[in-house]
Amino acid sequence: MDGSFYITTPIYYVNDVPHIGHAYTTCAADVLARFHRMRGERVLFSTGTDEHGQKIARAAQDAGLTPQELVDRVVLRFQDLWKRMHISHDVFIRTTDPEHERTVQSFFLLLKEKGYIYKGEYEGWYCVPCETFWTEAQLEGRLVCPDCGRPLERLREESYFFALSKFTEPLLRYLDEHPDFVMPESRFNEIYSFVKGGLKDQSISRLGVRWGIPVPGDPNHTIYVWFDALINYLTVVGFGRDRELFETFWPSAHHLVGKDILRFHAVLWPSMLLAAGLPLPRRVFAHGWWTVEGEKMSKSKGNVVDPLEVIARFGVDRFRYFLMREVSFGLDGDFSERAFVERSNADLSDNFGNLIHRTLNMVWKYRNGRVARPSQYEDREWEELLQEVRERFFTFMDRFAFSQALGEIWRLVHFGNRYLDQKAPWRMAKDPDLGEELDRVLYRLLDCGRILGVFLFPFMPETATRLLQYLGVEEILRDRNPLALCDWGKGPSVFSVAQPEPLFPRLQG
Ligand code: MSP
Repeated sequence: MDGSFYITTPIYYVNDVPHIGHAYTTCAADVLARFHRMRGERVLFSTGTDEHGQKIARAAQDAGLTPQELVDRVVLRFQDLWKRMHISHDVFIRTTDPEHERTVQSFFLLLKEKGYIYKGEYEGWYCVPCETFWTEAQLEGRLVCPDCGRPLERLREESYFFALSKFTEPLLRYLDEHPDFVMPESRFNEIYSFVKGGLKDQSISRLGVRWGIPVPGDPNHTIYVWFDALINYLTVVGFGRDRELFETFWPSAHHLVGKDILRFHAVLWPSMLLAAGLPLPRRVFAHGWWTVEGEKMSKSKGNVVDPLEVIARFGVDRFRYFLMREVSFGLDGDFSERAFVERSNADLSDNFGNLIHRTLNMVWKYRNGRVARPSQYEDREWEELLQEVRERFFTFMDRFAFSQALGEIWRLVHFGNRYLDQKAPWRMAKDPDLGEELDRVLYRLLDCGRILGVFLFPFMPETATRLLQYLGVEEILRDRNPLALCDWGKGPSVFSVAQPEPLFPRLQG
């Protein structure tokens, strides 16, 4: 299939080191990027860091560093983690990149010229950790941040405003016409009723904050960090500098975000784009939050999950698999060591790993590592199951329903294990009359392994590559559209397999 696919993660604040929440969104984006590449599409996958604003400036001050020194240090932690997680992003954007700063300033000027930006005075409250403005009316008498519960700071300063209120009606109309602009549906409804309540103009500059992009022509002001950050999605596709890149990818933009930052992405951002006269992204998908052993993750509780530690202990693919399988994308989930070990042992060791290991061992034991494609290789049951699994797998992937998509792949795994038990090749091997039937059984299982390797590649690239290498068919990954080769009869004329090592030895719980 041709076409383009642009997938983004939020750009992460670099006041602190990465945790499981960051790993989650980035892993999901990577799965999508790999999946779409495997369909032969042109893919642009971007992630990066959000480096301006008061929060970063304060963190730097506390650490005795300049903001630039701090961000230059922390950004390495993110880049290193993505490498270890086998994240295949095409672009890593930093908001301190000069190209981004230019894009933000020209976008600001564009909205100003169109009459959507004006100067006024902001009086109200500000949450530094969330970098969010709050009005009295929104606070209902409580002086803590409605999002994070932390204390607010009082602001009264000259400020530039974006005329967000003008977009209440246009945005409602857009939502009416595009019911899958925000997903999942419950989040769509939430955004819809928020917009319906009426939008207020949004302050988009700070007077006292030096660490930011200066407002063009009025450098005492810096541009509000969210206004700056959202524009990263345009910088990446060459807005204002590379027309071809922009036209190729912008119409297929998909944003993945956590539920806490959905409003910025589904209210402020589309309004900014409407104001600029630009098309809106295809989809904004909000995922849920992870708790840890049933508790909210926080530094003060000391329960923050460090992805590097999980990978060092359990391996990268167990981690990627757990993140994508354990909860439905969109819902909240809980990370616990027990759930991790159970999930990994049950699905990866006992089911998947076992199927592959048993198959390859038998191919060595009874056929010295080689099985040629037998005649009458077709089998109705396998064919029907594969067809159904494949259709449903694609549908789930198109809806970002990763856990359900994996569930489909595991239907093949379960079927393979049952098939092996029922056919009992060890009995066939004793009867010379059943030699051909034994070849068929082994070939089907090997071909099932090949198809599993391709389907699993977006989720567990390392394991899938190893599996395909064991089967001697790893060149399938170099095909333009490996997913199209996931059909019976598209396997090699001979499987010549390697001596396997277990893919997922059981973990001690
Ligand atoms: N810099 C902004 C995003 C700007 S995008 C134009 C930001 N950065 S962040 O580093 O604070 O958070 C990034 C993401 O991490 C958010 O999508 C947030 O939902 C996610 N998570 C933070 N804690 C999380 C969990 N405990 N669980 C899952 N995701 C969580 O916001």
